[in-house]
Amino acid sequence: MATNRTFTMIKPEAVAAGNTGKILDMIIEAGFKIKALKLTTLSKERAGEFYEVHKERPFYGELVDYMSSGPVVAAILEKDNAVADFRALIGATDPAEAADGTIRKAFAKSKAENAVHGSDSDENAEIEGKFHFAANEIV
Ligand code: PPS
Repeated sequence: MATNRTFTMIKPEAVAAGNTGKILDMIIEAGFKIKALKLTTLSKERAGEFYEVHKERPFYGELVDYMSSGPVVAAILEKDNAVADFRALIGATDPAEAADGTIRKAFAKSKAENAVHGSDSDENAEIEGKFHFAANEIV
């Protein structure tokens, strides 16, 4: 994957609340192109693997349970400066700290139920994109 790409998941509470379309709209309005997209459910094992970097953190079990609790929408997005621009669009992890106009300000409920995931580096964007999508699922 090129470095102008990032990876996102719309998290279970946002999908369940019917906010997928509104969130995708904000993403597209901000200039991102969708290169891959799927509605899927993570098993506990797959969620645990995806978030393995947080394995030693106290909330790891809660995070894995939550991310496997219902459908998520996974996507690969393309734009210049994709990783940093997408982190700016989604806002702070804690919605209480998220700026006005961000996706988390609009839709997140808590640090766990915070509407969307966004990759934190080009390297992780590539790893996370490949975790969810086969080559023939990316346009
Ligand atoms: S960040 O963006 O990596 O600096 O954020 P961080 O605070 O390190 O959180 C990493 C991911 O863990 C989720 N999180 C939690 N889940 C459940 N319970 C609690 N208390 C909690 N705190 C943080 C947070 O939503 C981040 O998920 P992703 O999907 O990476 O955004």
